[in-house]
Amino acid sequence: MAVRVVVGAQWGDEAKGKVVDLLSQNSRYVVRYAGGSNAGHTVCTNGKTYKFHLIPSGILHPHVTAVIADGVVVDLRALKAEMEALAEQGVEFSRLRVGLGAHLTLPYHRQLDELNEARLEGRIGTTRRGIGPTYADKAARIGLRVADLLDPERFAMLLHRVLEVRNRVLTRVYNAPPIDEAALRDEFLAHAEWLRPIVADVPAMLMDAVARGEPILLEGAQGTLLDLDYGTYPYVTSSHPVSAGACLGTGIAPNQLTEIWGVAKAYTTRVGEGPFPTELNNEIGDYIRNRGREYGTTTGRARRVGWLDLVALRYSARLNGFTALAVTLLDVLSGLPTLKVCTAYRYRGELREQFLADGFALAECEPIYTELPGWDADLSACRRRADLPRNAQAYLDFIEDYVQTPIKLISVGPNREQTILD
Ligand code: GDP
Ligand code: IMO
Ligand code: MG
Repeated sequence: MAVRVVVGAQWGDEAKGKVVDLLSQNSRYVVRYAGGSNAGHTVCTNGKTYKFHLIPSGILHPHVTAVIADGVVVDLRALKAEMEALAEQGVEFSRLRVGLGAHLTLPYHRQLDELNEARLEGRIGTTRRGIGPTYADKAARIGLRVADLLDPERFAMLLHRVLEVRNRVLTRVYNAPPIDEAALRDEFLAHAEWLRPIVADVPAMLMDAVARGEPILLEGAQGTLLDLDYGTYPYVTSSHPVSAGACLGTGIAPNQLTEIWGVAKAYTTRVGEGPFPTELNNEIGDYIRNRGREYGTTTGRARRVGWLDLVALRYSARLNGFTALAVTLLDVLSGLPTLKVCTAYRYRGELREQFLADGFALAECEPIYTELPGWDADLSACRRRADLPRNAQAYLDFIEDYVQTPIKLISVGPNREQTILD
């Protein structure tokens, strides 16, 4: 039975939420494997728009168990707020599970993220959700996990130990006020009470599901080019959005993955700092930003917009082992007479067809474009690939040919039904 992974192929916000919701129809488990509340995944259906940050985008399907796996970093304040907001929209959480091994994002992680981002030089442009500091503590082996929270004595002891160090850093390095240990401890031990019934041994649960042959969907957050190792370092997130990260984050073995879906916009966007060779700082960029409503789901920031970078997309396909591509927001490009796609870079005077993941080297790359004819028609009512204007079909054929991966899903609007699946 299928264990499918959905991975962002670019710099995030590729419409993974929409694709996950669609593929959830044939899944028993939908599992977030990395990242935290920095993610913002949107699902539009039945006239409603749902925004997910920590909760898997498959939760809307009553047959799905939605799992926040051990590779995710969990901010319980954010999770509670998200559950409350979604409950008002009628979402039900009896099938939500959170991994015992997931690390907790605590208020001092957010504070440190904000203090780091307040610098003028060397900013990453993070979402300020405490992601980097949480994963840093995890790697330094001073993080607190969901399992710790379920044992009040252990939690109090570990929190005391870490705050001794953290408070010294906050007060002496940043001239910030110290964290009130007792208040933090009591607040989080109170969170433990609503969390306890939904906590699960996720690797054990998923290994059993795999053994029973139940269909599982692993939901990526962020995007390949934001991967800590393979993205445009240092302008990356602190986790592993790539398909290999799905195994690390869930405990499912690599040989169990049966399909790896890459989700890519028909153009490119990026939020935050960092190199972006095909960026459009002109009226074409504004046209795409307005039509695609390119403003962040989590932070509301205007997204940077550019042409489709096929060099980056092919890198992404090879790194993740995509077995299928989902091309999204194709409708946004309608009305542009000519479309450009980047098929090579010029780097220090030489032509280069390989991506450069080094954030500083990529900043020196100049895009070499292939021009393709655009189309005018509104695509949002197309339901078969053959219904698309000839130039839109040729655009997709060009992508498929360059990236050497079949396009199995095309999205022509935000709603669930505005999709071509053939
Ligand atoms: P994610 O983080 O990858 O899940 O993507 P986001 O939800 O942050 O951003 C994608 C945005 O595009 C959301 O506002 C979606 O509702 C919207 N969207 C998804 N697919 C399409 C599409 O095919 N066309 C248009 N115009 N909008 C889309
Ligand atoms: P989804 O899942 C787009 C970006 C931030 C910043 C960098 C590091 O919705 O696609 P972080 O807060 O993670 O330390 O920020 O990563 N970033 C995202 N960009 N979509 C996301 O998530 C992102 N999550 C983080 O803008 O450049
Ligand atoms: Mg998003």
